[in-house]
Amino acid sequence: MGKDVIVACDFATAEQTYAFLDKFTDEKPFVKIGMELFYAEGPAIVRAIKARGHKVFLDLKLHDIPNTVKKAMAVLSGLDVDICNLHAAGGLDMMRGAVEGLTRPDGSRPLLIAVTQLTSIDQQRMEKELLIDRPLEEVVMQYAANARTAGLDGVVCSPLEAGRVHEACGGEFLTVTPGIRFADGASGDQQRVTTPARAREIGSDYIVVGRPITGAEDSVAAYRRCVADFVG
Ligand code: C5P
Repeated sequence: MGKDVIVACDFATAEQTYAFLDKFTDEKPFVKIGMELFYAEGPAIVRAIKARGHKVFLDLKLHDIPNTVKKAMAVLSGLDVDICNLHAAGGLDMMRGAVEGLTRPDGSRPLLIAVTQLTSIDQQRMEKELLIDRPLEEVVMQYAANARTAGLDGVVCSPLEAGRVHEACGGEFLTVTPGIRFADGASGDQQRVTTPARAREIGSDYIVVGRPITGAEDSVAAYRRCVADFVG
């Protein structure tokens, strides 16, 4: 599995997304499509971006009973996405069902990764609202271990956690890490940020980069800078 930069296309419409992707004439970045764009444009946006030659990470974070998630994943597999995801909080059976649903008759399937705890959940919220009375980091590592046990390929995590996840779950277990900023850029609403070069040192497999590329004056140059710093 090669390291790559995934561009978070957090746009509201297909037009805005295509206008952004049209800037790239020499390369085909790996694209992340999130809930906003998918719910606005439907499966057609995935087919269109795939047809343009991009790999797609469909970030829909599924979480439901095992049978429902299994059937939904079978639909996403048919869309030929390259990576999709779910919430590890759905449990082992849900994750096993997801793997089953994604697997095509020829045995191939998209990569499947798990969200452990959302970065919007901190220790206090976890204890007071969710009544989970354990250290957050322990919960993240337990959810990552569950994802591995269920046969998933990796987790979404902070780049700062990527090293520990690899230690606990093995070097081949993928870490996909948002929260990336250039050292000379604004951090925006991201609290714990890392540069592409540091994410590479820590051992992230994929970095997910949104605004530092989509909001840059020269998005292609910003993308190339990320690739140079992270992939080399
Ligand atoms: O613009 P920015 O680089 O902050 O975008 C990061 C992307 O990664 C967004 O699409 C955001 O929703 C996603 N993400 C995140 N933190 C997580 C999980 C996903 O920033 N823990």
